[in-house]
Amino acid sequence: MNTPHKGLDITTAKSSRLDQVDFDNLVFGKYYADHMMICDYKDGAWQTPQIMPYGPMEMEPSSKVFHYGQAVFEGMKAFKDADDKVWLFRPEDNFNRINISSKRMAIPEFPKEYFFDALNTLLKLDSEWIKKGDGNSLYIRPFAIGTEYGVSASPSNEYKFIIICCPAKAYYSTPVKVLISDHYSRSADGGVGYAKAAGNYGASFYPTNLAKEKGYQQVIWTDANTHEYLEEAGTMNVFFRIGDKLITAPTSDRILDGVTRKSIIDLAKHEGIDVEVRRIKVGEIVEAAKNGTLKEIFGTGTAATIAQISGFEQDGTFYDLPEVENPYNVKLKKMLQDIQYNRAEDPFDWRYAV
Ligand code: COI
Repeated sequence: MNTPHKGLDITTAKSSRLDQVDFDNLVFGKYYADHMMICDYKDGAWQTPQIMPYGPMEMEPSSKVFHYGQAVFEGMKAFKDADDKVWLFRPEDNFNRINISSKRMAIPEFPKEYFFDALNTLLKLDSEWIKKGDGNSLYIRPFAIGTEYGVSASPSNEYKFIIICCPAKAYYSTPVKVLISDHYSRSADGGVGYAKAAGNYGASFYPTNLAKEKGYQQVIWTDANTHEYLEEAGTMNVFFRIGDKLITAPTSDRILDGVTRKSIIDLAKHEGIDVEVRRIKVGEIVEAAKNGTLKEIFGTGTAATIAQISGFEQDGTFYDLPEVENPYNVKLKKMLQDIQYNRAEDPFDWRYAV
């Protein structure tokens, strides 16, 4: 079928690859839903978005993205409720953020109606790929890349904005142990840390590999100037519970304005939890770990939702976190998922019906 549809060109897949997926043993990012959206930017304008079967695409080896990393992305999730209705969670925030990231990377902003038309169409075409039940979702990966050929170091004049989707379960199946970084940095003042620029993630792989060699799954990033302040954990924002207070770093040039992060702040406040958004020193959590007031650490992100951190290494010493009764991370994750799966009231109006 090849039909123009409300400004989208749609070519549907001849057959589905759904039966190739082992939904009981999903590996994050391994299988992709039948359809994707590609929209080209050329001659100063975004062209008609194309919905087409997921598959390889041809690109010039000299395309700017391969040489200068002119690329941004987003992570979103679609959920299916008990009545088979599909929901997105705060999609407008992801849409706004990809354009904030694009601006920083000199990529032209993507039009809102193209984004939402494409998302709605893809999720309707591939609704079978969204499984019901706690932890199941369809992870949506919008991204934009500079595709113009030529290795001169200048912004591309041509781009592709693409949306692909993959079925997902929990990103981390067990609590993670982390290493506090006292040398490598994820971002710097005036840099691109607040943007979902592809290179932020690529640059984190080497320090993360070093941490893995020492038995840690992730790195807690500290500020590039002094390494005294805690900023993010791996690909997630990070929260610390000291006593009954929940503390997380404020967003800045260096810290991503995470959709899950701000949702958790709102949910925690709604629950009457005392939330402090402020800079937090490595020394403060080491001290709290020593005197027993450090109760929880957890990371937040779209892919991981909430990942419990069971302990951390700082300066050669490992600090194991105690088991606590009624942990905040479990309670807040349930509150978040109840909204995402349409099992509870949505006092903040975060759900978006597809
Ligand atoms: C997300 O949570 O969507 C992320 O960006 C993490 C991703 C790099 C796997």
